[in-house]
Amino acid sequence: MTKPLLRVLRGERLDPPPLWLMRQAGRYLPEYRATRASAGGFLELCLTPALAAEVTLQPLQRFGFDAAILFSDILLLPWAMGQNLTYGEGEGPRLAPVRDAAGLAALRLERVAERTAPVREAVRLIAAATGDAALIGFAGAPFTVACYMVDGRGGDFLETRTLAWRDPGFFADLIALLTEGTIATLAGQIEAGAEAVMLFDTWAGLLPPSLFAAHVTAPAQRITAALHARFPGVPVIGFPRLAGASLAAYARATGVQAVGMDTQTDPATLPADLVVQGNLDPLALLAGGAALEREVGAVRAATAARPHIFNLGHGVLKETPPEHVARLVELVRRR
Ligand code: CP3
Repeated sequence: MTKPLLRVLRGERLDPPPLWLMRQAGRYLPEYRATRASAGGFLELCLTPALAAEVTLQPLQRFGFDAAILFSDILLLPWAMGQNLTYGEGEGPRLAPVRDAAGLAALRLERVAERTAPVREAVRLIAAATGDAALIGFAGAPFTVACYMVDGRGGDFLETRTLAWRDPGFFADLIALLTEGTIATLAGQIEAGAEAVMLFDTWAGLLPPSLFAAHVTAPAQRITAALHARFPGVPVIGFPRLAGASLAAYARATGVQAVGMDTQTDPATLPADLVVQGNLDPLALLAGGAALEREVGAVRAATAARPHIFNLGHGVLKETPPEHVARLVELVRRR
């Protein structure tokens, strides 16, 4: 019995569609906040297999989603290569910026496997406990990870975007290093039990077309090809957020099995046989009530004729009442 999410990723249309949410494990859940507090810090939570597995499974126990997404973070790759990383209380990640060849030379891809061993142990624990839910592994796509590595924090990533023009050699080397690191990361998760993987390129939409081709599409194509060569049949979901008119071309050029749609995307602009995931506005989920009901109906109607995985257009916001998520599950599965 193939799991519903995997059937859709192979091109089947299911009614109702399988359902999971980006950031389904997180601060909107009191049980997550309790486990996070017991772990000490966010990195400790990611690197303690039993706790990472526990928070991964919490939203499945509460809501019965069709997928578990590994609880981890895209910034564990730069951390594992040796870049200093902290998550301050309520202020997001901070990294010691890498902006030149010397900074790049100090990073070590060979360290990554050992330092991320607890993540793969978490994957093994989760894989043993998912039942009919599929287990999704993930990594940040090279450009989005580069944004945090170069700027050192979230924001408008002006350092990163300027450096891509000013020092194209450095930038290409950084993207190449991250491409290799991402392949190793995702291969490790698949070997440990991930049944599909997702590539998060949250900031892809910041790039103009020429740089989008070089730093978003080309790396995603390489990562997808490398994974398919080693793990035929394991689907890849690409999520180049805010790619706009470039999304359909990205899907074709990269060879991914599905694309994540951000809240701006109209599925009618995408090829009819392309598997799509998304794209309810996280703010409609936060608002709840009649708006939520209407918007769930709108997303279902817009995707009814094609293979679709119900999700948000971006992650669950921490202010979201858990009852709204329960209501969403009811609405999506109502016949
Ligand atoms: O989706 C899931 O439930 C799986 C877990 C997951 C996390 N981060 C946990 C997390 C996933 C898939 C990510 C991906 C990630 N991390 C992205 C890409 C997707 C996106 O949301 O755009 C990015 C850009 C990051 C980097 C990152 N990690 C940021 C910007 C932050 C701070 C955000 C915030 O809400 O404070 C983090 C920390 C982080 N990663 C949290 C979680 C649940 C919050 C940490 C906490 O408990 O304080």
